Amino acid sequence: MAEPAIAAAHMSLGYAGRAVLRGLEFQVPTGSRVGILGPNGGGKTTLFRALTGEIEPLSGHLEVNATTATVAQTDRSRLDYPVSALDVATMGSLARLPWWKRPGRAERRRAREALAEVGLAELADSTFGDLSGGQRQRVLIARALTADAELLLMDEPFTGLDTTNEQRLEELIDSLAVKGRTVMIATHEVEQAERWDLVLCLNGEQISFGDPAVAISKPVLEATYGGHIVEIPGQPELGVLPAHHHHHDEGHEGAGQ
Ligand SMILES: Nc1ncnc2c1ncn2[C@@H]1O[C@H](COP(=O)(O)OP(=O)(O)OP(=O)(O)O)[C@@H](O)[C@H]1O
Ligand SMILES: [Mg+2]
Repeated sequence: MAEPAIAAAHMSLGYAGRAVLRGLEFQVPTGSRVGILGPNGGGKTTLFRALTGEIEPLSGHLEVNATTATVAQTDRSRLDYPVSALDVATMGSLARLPWWKRPGRAERRRAREALAEVGLAELADSTFGDLSGGQRQRVLIARALTADAELLLMDEPFTGLDTTNEQRLEELIDSLAVKGRTVMIATHEVEQAERWDLVLCLNGEQISFGDPAVAISKPVLEATYGGHIVEIPGQPELGVLPAHHHHHDEGHEGAGQ
């Protein structure tokens, strides 16, 4: 059997010796699309930091058999980058080049290809900060593609995208996986995760992992989102969905704690 892209065993992650994510136990085959579900603070970004090597496991083992690039949880308030979309995409090549080498013509050509791959060929020379949130998101994905990463970590890439761009990004994720890239996507959309190959549910610990048809269930979603759940109209078999669009809702589930 082929070596998995990622193998985590008995792993816990955290900061300054304090665990925020425990019981990680999963293997991801190369070329899979993996949804990561979890509430705010559940540990999604922390897992990504471990996968890129930014933090070391507090305990257990982590094996990542792939070059990795992250599409960060975007800060859409930054509109002042005085650089073009092509410049941003070209920065991805820095991951591959020796420290003394600056990106040249070959790297810029690769960056243009990556922009074409995300449907932005005609906006290559636009100022990054002038692009829409969805377009900037795709430029950041192009940057990850320019890095030729085998494992792409997308941290809530759908946040703020309209339906058209959401659909384009889903198609892009599918085509990347078909080409053998492993893609992990942190998302708040349960229905989306149901369409991918694997799902990992986190809430300070691993709640479940596996084929979404098996690994997503009502008890799993309740454990994943705690009290922060609402009914999905017309989906009684699951019946719950994270109310992430309503962070500041009064929360009629009662005062609780
Ligand atoms: N640099 C840090 N130092 C200490 N604690 C941190 C740090 N970053 C995150 N945490 C804590 O780790 C826990 C998990 O946070 P993390 O950012 O991984 O959650 P998340 O699932 O990505 O949340 P969100 O959906 O809001 O992005 C939280 O309790 C958070 O406060
Ligand atoms: Mg996060």
